[in-house]
Amino acid sequence: MDWVKLVLFFMLYPFLCQLVFSSSLPLLCPKHQALALLQFKQMFTINPNASVFYNPTTLSWNKRTDCCSWKGVHCEETTGQVIELDLACSGLQGKFHSNTKFGELSSLTSLYLEYSGLTGVIPPEISHLYSVNISSTIPLNFSSYLTTLQLSGAQLRGVLPERVFHLSNLEHLELSYNSLTGPIPSNVTGLQNLQFLFLRSNYLNGTIPSWIFSLPSLSLLSLSNNSFSGNIQEFKSKSLYSVDLKENQLQGPIPKSLLDLQGLFSLRISQNNQSGQIASTVCNPKTLRVLDWGSNHLNGTIPYCLGEMSELADLDLNNNCLSGTINTTFATENEFTIINLYGNKLQGKVPPSLINCRRLEFLDLGDNQLNDTFPSWLGGLPDLQILSLRSNKLYSPIKESRTDNFFAKIRVIDLSSNGFGGDLPVNRYFIFYANTLIVTTKGLDLELPRVLTTEVIINLSRNRFEGYLPSIIGDLVGLRTLNLSHNGLEGVIPESLHQLAILESLDFSSNKIGGEIPEQLVSLTSLEVLNLSHNHLVGCIPKGKQFDTFDNSLYLGNDGLRGLPLSKDWGGDNGVPQATTPVELDDEEEDEGDLISWQAVLMGFGCGLVIGLSIIYIMLSTHYLEDGCKI
Ligand SMILES: *[C@@H]1O[C@H](CO)[C@@H](O)[C@H](O)[C@H]1NC(C)=O
Ligand SMILES: *[C@@H]1O[C@H](CO)[C@@H](O)[C@H](O)[C@H]1NC(C)=O
Ligand SMILES: *[C@@H]1O[C@H](CO)[C@@H](O)[C@H](O)[C@H]1NC(C)=O
Ligand SMILES: *[C@@H]1O[C@H](CO)[C@@H](O)[C@H](O)[C@H]1NC(C)=O
Ligand SMILES: *[C@@H]1O[C@H](CO)[C@@H](O)[C@H](O)[C@H]1NC(C)=O
Ligand SMILES: *[C@@H]1O[C@H](CO)[C@@H](O)[C@H](O)[C@H]1NC(C)=O
Ligand SMILES: *[C@@H]1O[C@H](CO)[C@@H](O)[C@H](O)[C@H]1NC(C)=O
Ligand SMILES: *[C@@H]1O[C@H](CO)[C@@H](O)[C@H](O)[C@H]1NC(C)=O
Ligand SMILES: *[C@@H]1O[C@H](CO)[C@@H](O)[C@H](O)[C@H]1NC(C)=O
Ligand SMILES: *[C@@H]1O[C@H](CO)[C@@H](O)[C@H](O)[C@H]1NC(C)=O
Ligand SMILES: *[C@@H]1O[C@H](CO)[C@@H](O)[C@H](O)[C@H]1NC(C)=O
Ligand SMILES: *[C@@H]1O[C@H](CO)[C@@H](O)[C@H](O)[C@H]1NC(C)=O
Repeated sequence: MDWVKLVLFFMLYPFLCQLVFSSSLPLLCPKHQALALLQFKQMFTINPNASVFYNPTTLSWNKRTDCCSWKGVHCEETTGQVIELDLACSGLQGKFHSNTKFGELSSLTSLYLEYSGLTGVIPPEISHLYSVNISSTIPLNFSSYLTTLQLSGAQLRGVLPERVFHLSNLEHLELSYNSLTGPIPSNVTGLQNLQFLFLRSNYLNGTIPSWIFSLPSLSLLSLSNNSFSGNIQEFKSKSLYSVDLKENQLQGPIPKSLLDLQGLFSLRISQNNQSGQIASTVCNPKTLRVLDWGSNHLNGTIPYCLGEMSELADLDLNNNCLSGTINTTFATENEFTIINLYGNKLQGKVPPSLINCRRLEFLDLGDNQLNDTFPSWLGGLPDLQILSLRSNKLYSPIKESRTDNFFAKIRVIDLSSNGFGGDLPVNRYFIFYANTLIVTTKGLDLELPRVLTTEVIINLSRNRFEGYLPSIIGDLVGLRTLNLSHNGLEGVIPESLHQLAILESLDFSSNKIGGEIPEQLVSLTSLEVLNLSHNHLVGCIPKGKQFDTFDNSLYLGNDGLRGLPLSKDWGGDNGVPQATTPVELDDEEEDEGDLISWQAVLMGFGCGLVIGLSIIYIMLSTHYLEDGCKI
């Protein structure tokens, strides 16, 4: 895991604003270089708004101090020559003048301009770094030393200037997140030392030129999110450890040379046009941690060896055409944290050896053809946060388990569109009350459900759950989304739901839920989506707060509901079915026939209001619908 973080950090590093600490070197920087930098500074005003992130750099630049101590300026230790200039996030506003003496910085090897805010015409000396509008050649005394060029997010536009690829000393080239379009120049030679090449998120197209595959020292390659097509060729470099080609239109097999690499760490080829089967040679690189091959057209079966890979942490084969059973045995002591097999044609059972994946955080087996009972043993995975088994052929009641720490860290559970039945799994030991926390307050021990702290999404829609809606749901105050639609649930909507303070989406539609909508639900101010349609609800629709923003359609198909809000599409004859008719209401109330309900009829069905003359007065002097519910 730490290794992953390290590499992630390394890959993201250039995109972060870097704080560069000024170095206090014994040697003074050459005067002409200091003057060139000061002249450069004077061309701009500082505007924190000019760049997305702001980290003032040039503020500290002044004649009285050695330029090697200025922020963002790094000098060579023995000669004092400026070798690195970091203007990332510096908030510079203004334009380069063409007469800048930038060429004085003859030893400059690294220039960081990410999010610098610079605009305008760049002087010829550094035109290759920024804009293709200037077609001068790079002065030799500037370019030949350049080893690092990071211009990600510098808003470069146009065709990739070919000369960038002729800086023969480059070790690190980053031009990601620009709009630099077209193919990469094909006739590039040299670049013997290039280790890191990042060209992601541009609009580059054509085939990936063969010189990239021939780079002898390449370690990290990122060409993702472009429009490259054609095959991936064999790589010459033996030091590659991260290859990211996702979001292109590449096809053909994974080159054998990649699978022979013993240091390969991350291989991302998702969202391409790859077809054919997954050969078991994919398990050859023993160091592989990330295999991201989702959203292609892969078919055949999952190679047995995948579960035996000892370092693999992220396995992503979603949205392919893989078939057969998940025929693998996940080894004990494995590193898997993410397994995503969503959207294939996998059959058979959920492999029991998944219980060996003790570090698993994300498991998505959704949209397959798995035929099994609920794998409740997954609840024993201590770090599992996201579980999706949606759209399979899973069945049977979901049994509770009395194991402690059951689904201890679950945040998202999606079991929708299966054949699960029986009572909702909301009892003491299942999903919601996974784990309890004992809190002692005022001398009393209180048992609090652990789920209180997390924001939970639960989707049990389109199954065969039955029985009553348990009021215990109201205790799950961490609930953000609950979808119980398309089941056979009965009972009433528990008043306790008003405690769900962060609830954003609640769908009880297409069940057999009766009774009234509790007035208390008006206090659910986070609620953005509500669907109660196609149930047996009766009574008045609560008014106020969120309830005034909901559309009528969420109440459709409840014959006993009254007091539909006068929303824009509401009207007696515009095709929206009216929820009720006065005749039906009278029948219903007469069935009950007691004094209270008679008073309710008198008062316009009361809706929980206090009975009295004053209310009749209010009723007469304010607006009520014909059906007797408050507007
Ligand atoms: C930066 O943006 C803020 C908020 O939009 C504005 O108040 C401020 O004047 C801006 N500063 C400059 C120097 O443009
Ligand atoms: C270095 O660059 C400056 C400015 O562009 C130029 O005048 C000078 O001739 C160059 N020196 C060499 C040796 O190329
Ligand atoms: C060059 O600059 C002009 C004027 O700033 C602009 O209209 C044009 O699009 C630029 N060309 C390229 C290729 O960026
Ligand atoms: C190949 O590179 C040379 C100079 O490096 C250039 O003049 C030429 O136009 C390039 N040819 C193609 C086909 O890109
Ligand atoms: C893909 O690249 C385009 C162009 O730079 C960018 O706008 C978009 O956000 C990128 N998408 C992703 C997912 O990185
Ligand atoms: C590459 O994109 C440009 C437009 O940006 C288009 O004119 C050209 O035909 C594309 N080339 C290929 C090989 O798709
Ligand atoms: C994907 O590959 C198939 C051949 O396997 C080809 O016919 C199709 O045009 C390709 N699609 C794209 C978008 O490149
Ligand atoms: C996989 O797809 C190819 C076409 O891309 C087809 O020829 C082959 O029969 C398929 N194999 C399986 C096992 O479905
Ligand atoms: C599972 O994979 C093993 C090893 O490849 C193979 O021998 C076995 O026949 C496979 N079983 C099924 C049911 O596909
Ligand atoms: C699930 O598998 C059993 C046999 O194991 C079979 O009888 C049943 O029809 C299957 N269910 C579905 C929905 O395919
Ligand atoms: C729940 O599952 C259904 C069907 O699988 C899906 O349409 C819906 O978007 C899911 N998510 C939520 C939040 O309901
Ligand atoms: C709940 O799930 C159903 C399908 O099972 C889906 O149609 C509906 O959009 C979901 N509700 C919400 C609010 O996402």
